[in-house]
Amino acid sequence: MDISFSSSLTNSPGALVVSVAEGGILTPSVARFDRESGGAISNAVSQVKFSGKPRKLLELVTPNGAGITRIILAGIGKPASFDANAAEDLGASIVKQLLAGGESSASVMIDLPPRKAQKSKKPRNTRRAGISSAELAARIALGAYLHSYRFDHYRTKQDNEKPSLKKITVVTRTEVRAKALWFNLSAIAQGTMLARDLVNEPPNILHPKELAKRIKFLSKLGVKVEVLDEVQMKKLGMNMLLAVGKGSKQPSQLVVMRWNGKKKGKGKNKAAGPLAFVGKGVCFDSGGLSLKPGNSMVGMKGDMGGAAAVVGLMHTLAKRRAVVDAVGVVGLVENMPDGTAMRPDDVVTTMSGQTVEVLNTDAEGRLVLADALWYTQNRFKPRLIINLATLTGAIIVSLGREHAGLFSNNDMLAARIASAGQIEGEAVWRLPLSAAYDQLLKSKIADMKNIGGQGAGSITAAQFLQRFVNDVPWAHLDIAGVAWQDGDRKLKIPSWGTGWGVRILNRLITDHYER
Ligand code: BES
Ligand code: MN
Ligand code: ZN
Repeated sequence: MDISFSSSLTNSPGALVVSVAEGGILTPSVARFDRESGGAISNAVSQVKFSGKPRKLLELVTPNGAGITRIILAGIGKPASFDANAAEDLGASIVKQLLAGGESSASVMIDLPPRKAQKSKKPRNTRRAGISSAELAARIALGAYLHSYRFDHYRTKQDNEKPSLKKITVVTRTEVRAKALWFNLSAIAQGTMLARDLVNEPPNILHPKELAKRIKFLSKLGVKVEVLDEVQMKKLGMNMLLAVGKGSKQPSQLVVMRWNGKKKGKGKNKAAGPLAFVGKGVCFDSGGLSLKPGNSMVGMKGDMGGAAAVVGLMHTLAKRRAVVDAVGVVGLVENMPDGTAMRPDDVVTTMSGQTVEVLNTDAEGRLVLADALWYTQNRFKPRLIINLATLTGAIIVSLGREHAGLFSNNDMLAARIASAGQIEGEAVWRLPLSAAYDQLLKSKIADMKNIGGQGAGSITAAQFLQRFVNDVPWAHLDIAGVAWQDGDRKLKIPSWGTGWGVRILNRLITDHYER
């Protein structure tokens, strides 16, 4: 779907979407259009009692042409509480309505009425009531774009399901400013959609080598991409990651992505090292010899959701030319049962030198991350490391699908991540780490075992990861509950794969680490 911005209505706008604030209040431009078109909008407002309640839409079939196929009134509620999020949701619901109506193009004329018409009791210069026209326009576009996402490469018979909508023009008096904001927001949307694509791809197609190949496309955007194969990983001592992939016909891969957006020698934190993002990339998790029961195995193509988020983030950073130095590292493996597979009871020496007794081959994500984290920390000396992983079913027991689990050795980093998630609609909830939980990893014969005891499965998994980072500020996001969704889909997330992680990390970077 094509999105553009324009300062005036074009000749054949298709559907025209206009905003109505609570109380039936129109913006001057909508009021002008209303007068010129014989009062269609004000009639609807008064006769059908369309009062502009938030998220309400009313569709009118238009009588007198001018290239307008229909007019959709979109309620924005009280202007003072209409924020970026509300704008995104409205953009998404508008597209939903247009798709249902088989529309092919639309012009969206949505704005807040000028202050004096808002009857606001708040003093003129309160910050809260302020989403600018440009921001509003760009956020409408973002919601619209995110809702238009489809994953249908594998449908061959879908003619009447093919989405009709081709073009959305956002009409705004602040066209130039809106376009500038859209430069950043569209990069976020594209990174999110790339992450969704990767999660949605079936595992017979997207095995580790294929995923590595797709990551290589990032080099077109200026990201430096290195792919390490099994021989190179063996040389580095990554026995733990390699052990997970041993039972698979598909060779394991480790991919390093580097985005250097800072000018050489400039910026006060140039010496501090890059930000590092590490992703679990299990392209399919059968459980290995500790095989999952049939139903629990379905959906395990999405067990590379952490890696997908890291790839999506790197795409976003490069697209918007972020002024930051960031590295992404993803460990790509397939966890399969075979005569060559890692066994429960095996003891393996990790790259760090620590030994692990593998008691359950289905606790494989932490094994992949152990070597990926160690490697990242030692090679790049990052100023912080954040890893993302669909790590434990237990996090779904704790938090359901509303929050990802957050674990960190650093309160400041944890707080920053939590607030970034709040703003972007990717919420996280912090869980504890402590020496007492760490004790649960004691092994009878090695430095540690790869599972804890009965309870606190997500925490013991996090404690395991922490043994592979030293003092660097580190956070682990357990995204098992949020990387994909079954059942009802959210407005801005119309597919199984959610692309969770791109927005929260991008926000963290813009708010705290850029420039
Ligand atoms: N990939 C799974 C975690 C998972 C489960 C993600 C359900 C999404 C939905 C992970 O590799 C796994 O199998 N974890 C085990 C750990 C256990 C063996 C200690 C689990 O959660 O059961
Ligand atoms: Mn597993
Ligand atoms: Zn897994």
